[in-house]
Amino acid sequence: MSVPISLNISHLAPDVTWEEILSLRDAAANSHEMLHSGAGAGSDYLGWLDPRKMMPAEEVERITDVAEELALSTDVLVVVGIGGSYLGARAAIEALADNSKDRVFFAGQNISAHYLSHLIESLADKRFAINVVSKSGTTTEPAIAFRILRSHLESAVGMDAASELIVATTDPAKGALKRLSKEQKYETFEVPVDVGGRYSVLSAVGLLPMAYAGIDIIAMVEAAERCAKACSNPELESNPAYTYAVARNLLYNKGKEIEILASFEPRLHYLAEWWKQLFGESEGKENKGIFPAAVDFTTDLHSVGQWIQQGKRNIFETFIDIKTGEPELTIPEDPPDLDGLNYLAGRDLHSVNREAYRATALAHREGGVPNSTIRIPRLDEESLGALVYFFEKACAISGYLLHVNPFDQPGVEAYKNHMFALLGKPGFEEQSRALEKELKHRSREQEVRFKG
Ligand code: PA5
Repeated sequence: MSVPISLNISHLAPDVTWEEILSLRDAAANSHEMLHSGAGAGSDYLGWLDPRKMMPAEEVERITDVAEELALSTDVLVVVGIGGSYLGARAAIEALADNSKDRVFFAGQNISAHYLSHLIESLADKRFAINVVSKSGTTTEPAIAFRILRSHLESAVGMDAASELIVATTDPAKGALKRLSKEQKYETFEVPVDVGGRYSVLSAVGLLPMAYAGIDIIAMVEAAERCAKACSNPELESNPAYTYAVARNLLYNKGKEIEILASFEPRLHYLAEWWKQLFGESEGKENKGIFPAAVDFTTDLHSVGQWIQQGKRNIFETFIDIKTGEPELTIPEDPPDLDGLNYLAGRDLHSVNREAYRATALAHREGGVPNSTIRIPRLDEESLGALVYFFEKACAISGYLLHVNPFDQPGVEAYKNHMFALLGKPGFEEQSRALEKELKHRSREQEVRFKG
């Protein structure tokens, strides 16, 4: 079985040519060697490289069993997590679980009182379970949401029954969530120590919510495994993940500092959100990195499409094209033809969508936006499992080509420390005083008000 992904780079030239890509063969092979030998930065976090080792068959089976049992006894699963502990599951469920995506709610990915109260209101007449996902077990956003939701569940069904309805996915040994899970006897799954949040979608982090939503997680892991095998080929001309990594670095070095991931399929919206987090947290550091942006076409062709066509030429695009497998929907004949659409009568809607993609890719190329296309035969577990791995591998190689550590995220701490200080967390007293002073000074200097 071959890997159902191809990369078409014919719209990159003249900005980047195939010859230029090939000239970076050695650099790609070097990054490959660093990654696979563990000699590169962040090598404590390479557990995702081998999807089968990260997720042995018995563990996938245990996840399936727990998820199926929960799905039978509840109406809804609330997944509590943020960043890498949330986006992968959401991406897969939006993309694949047409019939049961309404059974999975997400919380802890923001601190909005409106969002959480609304979610709690909608749980009022439902039997619900909670899957709290946090590798560190100490991240503020999911910790707050979990405390609130847990207390609702406990009041609804009682302490003991609530413990049966809570599943924790966290570090195998440490952290507040691990301690709480032990104390409350929650069913627990591990986030492998050697896998960082944004590379964890194919561990219990993503797989449990996916299985609850009816996604075939065995097929996802097997597809990733096949992709891992194909991606372990260091020759970039027969490894589309490496070609993609090299091409985007060449573009970046030529001033194309923003990459836009574009799809014509709304159910890929959250895959793009996951991709943004993967590449943004992995590469944006040391004052370097491509800014990852995403658009939903054709919707966004009627908003930022104008900017893409004619704005500043510092962007490149990566399209995701789905060949087949979409529902058949034929545009009907309408004899008066008042809307002038009879030239499309009898055409399948997906084929029209694909022409919109072909037209856009060419128009953007002509407007000075180099673009390439990642193509999948159909959107299913097979292609999504492979795509996840494809992007993870490309991201790691791309990070090494950029000379950054693609597995850390030191910049995320800055806002956290300020937030802890402003919220009065014990131990942050001195910082709190200094920040309040600074903020007072800044707001006095810069507040602009209307007259009268
Ligand atoms: O990719 C990452 O490492 C981050 O986005 C984390 O997943 C995110 O910060 C959540 O962390 P945790 O799972 O520890 O709550």
